Amino acid sequence: MLPYVVQLQIALCLALFVAIPTSLILLCWKRKRKLGVRILIICFLVGTALLTFIFYPHTFKKSYRSNSRDLQMIALRAHADAAHFYLGAAVDDLKTLSNSRFLATFNSITPENALKMRQLVSNAQVDVYDFAKADAMVNFALQQGLRVRGHTLVWGKLSDLFRDPDLEVYLHGFPVEDRAAALQRLIELYVKTVVGHFRGRIVTWDVVNEPLSIFHPGQLEHNVYWRYLGPGYIRTAFMQAHKADPDAKLYLNEELSNFSGKRAEALINLVNQLKRAGVPIDGVGLQSHFIYALPSLAGFQSYLERLAKSGVTVEITELDARLALFRSADDPYIAQGQFYSSLLHSCLQNLACKGMTFWGFTDKHCWLDSLPLLFPKPNEPYLFDAELYAKPALRNLDLELTNCAHSLMCRHR
Ligand code: XIL
Repeated sequence: MLPYVVQLQIALCLALFVAIPTSLILLCWKRKRKLGVRILIICFLVGTALLTFIFYPHTFKKSYRSNSRDLQMIALRAHADAAHFYLGAAVDDLKTLSNSRFLATFNSITPENALKMRQLVSNAQVDVYDFAKADAMVNFALQQGLRVRGHTLVWGKLSDLFRDPDLEVYLHGFPVEDRAAALQRLIELYVKTVVGHFRGRIVTWDVVNEPLSIFHPGQLEHNVYWRYLGPGYIRTAFMQAHKADPDAKLYLNEELSNFSGKRAEALINLVNQLKRAGVPIDGVGLQSHFIYALPSLAGFQSYLERLAKSGVTVEITELDARLALFRSADDPYIAQGQFYSSLLHSCLQNLACKGMTFWGFTDKHCWLDSLPLLFPKPNEPYLFDAELYAKPALRNLDLELTNCAHSLMCRHR
């Protein structure tokens, strides 16, 4: 079910779509002109209000900037290392990665896009590779002593939604009866080539991304891989990745905005099925894009316990909790920091929870900003603001990591 802000926006847009043509028809009709004018004025006002709501740059007072020097001094990375915990951020280019604040804060990175199929293969046949950008980022990260998460090998949505590369078009070049075998070969070759290329450098892979359906909770997404190969495509991807690098930690990465309900259950069932079938899956990545609501932390903790019982490790892989979710607090930035530290606290309570990665470094570059209708601003989910001031979350996370580093029980990797 779509969240109410989005439902409201869609309903209003649809109403405007009906009301505008109706008023235009009435305008042309002599006796109903007045009514037509009135409806048009209402449409204009509602439309303006709607656009203002969506695009108005909501801002909150950035009080933390007054003590930013103290915050800037925090060496989060050292404390994450001391707690044997991966604290990471997604990064899209080498320039961001070489920023000194970045290097002082994180001990792990995930290339945000550079390792996706559409970036690595430069033709529809999926056999001409270009590793230049990814190699540069991965090598630099390793020189700096960072761990690299590989994101992501098999992601159905990429072909279905972005059509780049459009695997359906590729498969239509084969007779109908050969298409499944062609796609099977393609997965095997792609995973073998990419994992093999980074063997020994990328130690953790999101092998399959978002296998669960969004619109049919509890089911697998009927993506291009599923349509030709059925659920077995997941097994194929993991087997092949394991063969290409037996030492790599292999993860299944999924989007869950809370940790109960049909999708959450389906994820656990899937993990259990894969384990029972002897599929070499080591971990589960919980993306954790908190966009419309915050999750229950007690729910998160018990979900973690259940995953750990299933025999997998867990990482929070793509964290962002939009600032808009804290708008009712006296200081939303402080409330956001407290939420992140509570989440980290819950994660650190369980030794199966190995890391926490933000899906960005500064609020200047946030993937949610490009979709204002779906994600009305302010987003500002990261540890540094758009002008690189450290945000209060930094201190909260630092306290958690320092406490963990001082406890003998706290060894996450
Ligand atoms: C997003 C990137 O952040 C954007 O830059 C890109 O345009 C689209 O993909 N779940 C995932 C990530 O697994 O790969 C997505 O990243 C965000 C949602």
